[in-house]
Amino acid sequence: MKIRAISFKEASASKAIFIPLFSKQSLKGKEIFGHLPTGAQNSVLKFAQKEFSGEEDEIKSLWLAQGLINRIALIGLGEKSKWNERRMHLIPRRIIRAAKTEKIKYFTVDFNIHKESFTNAAIFATNAMLADLEFNKYKKVPKKGWPEINIISLSTTEELLAETQKGIQEGSIIGEEANSSRDLANTPGGDITPAKLAEAARIAARKNGLKIKILDEREISKIGMGGIIGVSKGSVEKPKFIILEYAGGPKNQKPLVLVGKGVTFDTGGLNLKPDQTICEMHMDMSGGAAVIHGLCAIARLRLPINVIGLIPAAENSPSGSSYRPGDILKSLSGKTIEVLNTDAEGRIILADALTYALKYKPGFILDLATLTGAAHVALGNYCSAVFTNKNELQNKLTEIGEKSGDYVWPLPLWEEYLNDIKGNFGDLTNAGKADRWGGAIHGAKFLEQFVGDVPWAHLDIAPRMTTVESDILAKGASGVGVRYIVEAAKRFPELLC
Ligand code: BES
Ligand code: ZN
Ligand code: ZN
Repeated sequence: MKIRAISFKEASASKAIFIPLFSKQSLKGKEIFGHLPTGAQNSVLKFAQKEFSGEEDEIKSLWLAQGLINRIALIGLGEKSKWNERRMHLIPRRIIRAAKTEKIKYFTVDFNIHKESFTNAAIFATNAMLADLEFNKYKKVPKKGWPEINIISLSTTEELLAETQKGIQEGSIIGEEANSSRDLANTPGGDITPAKLAEAARIAARKNGLKIKILDEREISKIGMGGIIGVSKGSVEKPKFIILEYAGGPKNQKPLVLVGKGVTFDTGGLNLKPDQTICEMHMDMSGGAAVIHGLCAIARLRLPINVIGLIPAAENSPSGSSYRPGDILKSLSGKTIEVLNTDAEGRIILADALTYALKYKPGFILDLATLTGAAHVALGNYCSAVFTNKNELQNKLTEIGEKSGDYVWPLPLWEEYLNDIKGNFGDLTNAGKADRWGGAIHGAKFLEQFVGDVPWAHLDIAPRMTTVESDILAKGASGVGVRYIVEAAKRFPELLC
């Protein structure tokens, strides 16, 4: 699928045109309307009056008998007073879904590119890409092939063509990388093991000019990452520690360090997960996938900063050689971790990765992890949880979510919560000692113990690991985190404190 910018004049020769409209908005006020042939103008005006109310979710299309334009589809935006930027992300998705259902392969969209053409075009492109992805690679191809869209044209004025095109380019890169992250996360656990995840990272790095180093089990053990070794002991799949580097900024500038949970399958270990929750656990490396492809996007956009990506990759399996509840693991930091529950494995491998991050003297550390079901219980389906050790950054971190479309909402990290995870026989417990209440906060509070005083934020992306109906995206991995990472990288100077 390709997206491009065209002038209104050119748009009037398109076969199919999608025009979004608020309820009660007049078609005549739309710039594209003035460029339509008179016959088409009259027909679409009559049609809109009779058939179209402009309600949200409404899509009505009119077939035209003569002329170049075959059909005009009107997309309802609801009442103008209720409009907000979040809804803007959904329009391209609705259009893609409609175009695929009706098998329209080439079409023009009048996406109101007049104001903020760069940003709006980028939002369109990213979301159109996200909506275009289906995870079909394990299915037999139907005789007629999968429904496909070839070219989408965004109509705009002659003066805004170049800026619109730039926005499309940037948005497409972000959408493509988010989709690559979804492909990785959607791939079954048998096909994405730690070694295969490392291989996928190597291929992505090579393609985008990133440096990569992969530590194997022997090296992980030698440098003292007892957490990663402990978690992976039960699996025949050996752990890997993936290190990616992008140098886009001045040499002396402190890097942004991204850390992503790379549990390629989370059975829960000896604290085996029940059947409903285990089956999606091949996506427990979604944070790692977001870091790999967030970095690829940063490199493709040539953002002027230095970025390191760290992904501890392991499989959490039960067996005779597994780590056990009660085991005490020695982390890279020297702190010992008392394992109360082998299913709280993410924080154990992240502890080692966060300690490793400190050696880069980071300006900011951002970790992304499908860490707790509790975050999902606390926040529902529509955002990830965000935690930070720098209160003054709280609003900024939420704003980054709002802007990117990867929405996040804060939960507290007060010192009271540290009591809940102080160890009985080790330094820290990997789960709340007394009860489960505040499980997402326990996870975050645990991670905080490994970042020292470095400005840090943790995204618990478990609530957004998979799409929900209202996303208007294919079932499976949502690609959460990639858009957030790019926006955070763009605003990196604001995160330094
Ligand atoms: N990977 C899971 C969290 C998860 C659950 C992610 C559902 C996405 C969807 C994590 O490793 C886990 O099992 N956490 C436990 C922690 C508990 C044992 C303290 C949880 O959330 O129950
Ligand atoms: Zn787990
Ligand atoms: Zn997990």
